[in-house]
Amino acid sequence: SGTGAAGANIPFLLLVAALLCSTLYPIPADTRMGGCSHTPPVHPETLRVQVESRCPLLPRPAAAPVELSLYYESLCPACREFLVLKLFPTWLLLPEEMLNITLVPYGNAQERNVSGKLDFQCQHGPEECLGNMMEACLMHEAQNFSTYFALIFCLESGSSVTKNLEACLQIYAPEVDIGRISTCVQGDTGVALMHHNAQLTEALDPPHQYVPWITINGVWQGEASLLGLVCHLYQGEKPEVCGGSKAPKIPPGCRR
Ligand SMILES: *[C@@H]1O[C@H](CO)[C@@H](O)[C@H](O)[C@H]1NC(C)=O
Ligand SMILES: *[C@@H]1O[C@H](CO)[C@@H](O)[C@H](O)[C@H]1NC(C)=O
Ligand SMILES: *[C@@H]1O[C@H](CO)[C@@H](O)[C@H](O)[C@H]1NC(C)=O
Repeated sequence: SGTGAAGANIPFLLLVAALLCSTLYPIPADTRMGGCSHTPPVHPETLRVQVESRCPLLPRPAAAPVELSLYYESLCPACREFLVLKLFPTWLLLPEEMLNITLVPYGNAQERNVSGKLDFQCQHGPEECLGNMMEACLMHEAQNFSTYFALIFCLESGSSVTKNLEACLQIYAPEVDIGRISTCVQGDTGVALMHHNAQLTEALDPPHQYVPWITINGVWQGEASLLGLVCHLYQGEKPEVCGGSKAPKIPPGCRR
């Protein structure tokens, strides 16, 4: 009857595994996948491995997102074109867990410390410094990536980067208080945010030679199909826009 007991234990083990799965991997309310996903386990690795081996039919934890950083300046035409025509549409097409974007408005600006007071000079003049500062402050105040990326897209795609803040807020984020943005732009918070962007930009290795300067997973990217590249690098299950699970072709670009 020893074998009988072992046989009877199998459904029990599955039940335990299912319970462990749901307690080890609490499911975020907004997740699109089933259990055993997203949230890293709090329990020791060995236990996680045991439990995972008993959850073969449940989806694997999601792969890490591809990390893309864009170093840019607000009035540079090539930066605006990249952000508006390439980055934003790529982000819209892909599932949000696939691509994590960091925007660093600063670019070819210069920072000076004039007897303790930081002063910025921008390639396209004071209006560009204002645009950089507005975007840095939007990110700081809006917090939610979807919200501030839509706002920055709105500014960068409009007739003027600096004059449409109120209109863009009305359309994309009426809950964000324009007064807080202005206070940030004119005050110490804006300066501190811009100083941080200056440090991030100056830390680039290799240093940027032009903007827009794009790194993916920390490595500088030359010209490449953004969508194809992100699809190629993402380790998780590929969405349909990537051509299913087949690795997409990366177009060779247009060389001279
Ligand atoms: C992107 O990555 C950063 C740094 O790891 C993290 O703080 C941020 O929450 C991530 N953003 C999203 C939308 O996942
Ligand atoms: C600016 O220079 C002053 C000295 O004049 C120094 O105390 C301060 O730390 C500097 N600030 C920054 C952000 O580098
Ligand atoms: C961010 O905003 C989007 C769109 O309004 C919303 O769906 C999402 O839940 C928000 N995320 C957070 C973390 O608040």
